[in-house]
Amino acid sequence: MNGSRETTSAVPDLSASAWDKRWREKNTGWDLGGVTPALIEWVKAHPVSKSAVLVPGCGSGYDAHYLAKQGADTVALDFSPSALAHARSLHPDSRVRWLEQDVTRLAFDAAFDLVWEYTCFVALHPHQREAYLAGLARALRPGGRYLGMVFQAVPNPDQGPPFQVDPDDFRALLERVFTVERILVPAPHSIKPRRGSEIWFEVCRAP
Ligand SMILES: C[S@@+](CC[C@H](N)C(=O)[O-])C[C@H]1O[C@@H](n2cnc3c(N)ncnc32)[C@H](O)[C@@H]1O
Repeated sequence: MNGSRETTSAVPDLSASAWDKRWREKNTGWDLGGVTPALIEWVKAHPVSKSAVLVPGCGSGYDAHYLAKQGADTVALDFSPSALAHARSLHPDSRVRWLEQDVTRLAFDAAFDLVWEYTCFVALHPHQREAYLAGLARALRPGGRYLGMVFQAVPNPDQGPPFQVDPDDFRALLERVFTVERILVPAPHSIKPRRGSEIWFEVCRAP
């Protein structure tokens, strides 16, 4: 040993059981308690009726249920059983298919026209991002779109979730897997407390 002190890793617990504990303890400060306004705005211009839509990291399921009500054939994923139980109880008559799955191990193959997410990418550790994005790209049909919003800031992998992104790094990461259609910094239609701190992105799987 050279006398240097060993440091312990500050990597937070991002396991399904840790997220489930957050849900059981109602430690869910991210939850808007309703549909994400930016999604409503996007759907006004891009009807989703009859589209097959995937919502990873669905949490309370407001967005997934909204998409199903717009006529989308919607699959919503979360690996927290308590989150899914909560979503089912909030939307008892929903046509959404709620599935308990880890979004970093997706096994769908060209099954969806659209992936919508909000605060799922930023819930994952930076080292999980590539696997997540590759799984989403496989899950989309050629020409299918992936859209959502992430938080922007100088990234600090020891602080999170949420794990924030630098806009240039984020674009480069997306471009490895997708064709970028639109990245807006700052995102329009953020809720007031998040205004100016979000990035809107819209990318597609190459046709
Ligand atoms: C910050 S919350 C966002 C929930 C919802 N999208 C919203 O905006 O209210 C992140 C959600 O993703 C889920 N989650 C985190 N990591 C996951 C993973 N690897 N696989 C599946 N779900 C995950 C958590 O259980 C949680 O419900």
